[in-house]
Amino acid sequence: MWGGRFAEGPSAIMREINASIPFDKALWRQDIAASKAHVAMLGQQGIVSSADAAAIAEGLDKVASEYEASGVPENWDLEDIHMTTESRLAELIGPVAGRLHTGRSRNDQVATDFRLWVRDAIDQAEAGLAALQGALVERAGEHAASIMPGFTHLQTAQPVTLGHHLMAYYEMFRRDRSRLADARARMNECPLGSAALAGTGFPLDRKATAGALGFDKPTDNSLDAVSDRDFALDYLQAAAQVALHLSRLAEEFIIWASQPFGFVTLPDALSTGSSIMPQKKNPDAAELVRGHAGRIVGCLTSLTITMKGLPLAYSKDMQDDKPPVFEAASLLGLSIAAMTGMVADSAFRTERMRQAAELGYATATDLADWLVREANIPFREAHHITGAAVKLAESKGVALDALALDELQAIDARIGEGVFAALSVDASVASRASHGGTAPDEVRKRVADARNVLGMNPSPPARGGA
Ligand code: ARG
Repeated sequence: MWGGRFAEGPSAIMREINASIPFDKALWRQDIAASKAHVAMLGQQGIVSSADAAAIAEGLDKVASEYEASGVPENWDLEDIHMTTESRLAELIGPVAGRLHTGRSRNDQVATDFRLWVRDAIDQAEAGLAALQGALVERAGEHAASIMPGFTHLQTAQPVTLGHHLMAYYEMFRRDRSRLADARARMNECPLGSAALAGTGFPLDRKATAGALGFDKPTDNSLDAVSDRDFALDYLQAAAQVALHLSRLAEEFIIWASQPFGFVTLPDALSTGSSIMPQKKNPDAAELVRGHAGRIVGCLTSLTITMKGLPLAYSKDMQDDKPPVFEAASLLGLSIAAMTGMVADSAFRTERMRQAAELGYATATDLADWLVREANIPFREAHHITGAAVKLAESKGVALDALALDELQAIDARIGEGVFAALSVDASVASRASHGGTAPDEVRKRVADARNVLGMNPSPPARGGA
């Protein structure tokens, strides 16, 4: 392409280090779409004749169907997807192909293609998260009143409902979706027509190409447009946050599926066996989701460091922007799908969960609260009295509500019969009806709101089994 200036071809090392076609061929659909928008505009503006514009558009369609049928050929001499497509176009339609690159550079071309690709990735992540939220909401509705221990420090703290616990993740993914939507809104400006860095002397209609490619407007500074990769970083930041949430959810399932917990039976379809221990059913999918989070954060780090300290405008370092984004998107898509399946198809062992809540003195706070409310005891003192009751129950190996009234009264005479109503795990969760609290009715309200937001059928369909 630059034979006019260079006497010798590139060394083998130069060819290899320079070639991005092995990975940027993933941009072929975006590259064709952007070229078609560009050439249509060149024709409209009379910058190329309408006959030439039509021939180029037809040629691009032909190239696209070849790529569709047999993949994008990888010739390192052609460096990247842009030159690969242009060179094939020239083979197909002859020298008129050379008019396509009028008023454009690979710098604005790649910035445009990549934005289009990232925009699709955002849309896919959003759709995947909506499905995951749907699964969470569905299961939360089923288990609005299923009792489990709530933990702090992974120590039994207070009883909560499984529905409440699952809806906590609904909230995380709601925020993630808003981050993605925010990134999408911010990135939706079209670099095409910024040319190499300074803009162009050709009378381009940048609004037309922006509109044709679904962008809100053309970018306002050509130097910024060709050197900006904020849109990719915004996406990776949002992706890293999603991955963090997925990893936490995966970790819950891993813990819950362990034998000492036994809170959940994972779907066979998302588990593996052991080659040596026949009894094993391993939560590999969840572990890989947890592992992939590390890789996705690594992708964010990679592009962050690539961009650090680059002067304006384009530098070739920026060619390295694509692998981390492609990798993160594919890991994220798999992770979201795996966790959606896990949430939708796991069998929750609600009896085990309830038992664990009952065994862990999870209603100790309810005893203390009762003393405050009914016997007008200051909370700190009530806390102390309750500690003695837990100690006694522990020494007898029974739950708090299995202690006899006279045993409790021996600890503090102000304890009355009414306390037992507060000590069951059901009474405990039912009492926490503050907005956003764990009470089944409150969880049902949040589930109903969420179903509405997600456009789901308002009444959950009947579902057999756990
Ligand atoms: N393959 C290049 C990239 O992805 C395209 C831009 C090349 N521009 C240039 N001036 N060499 O960054």
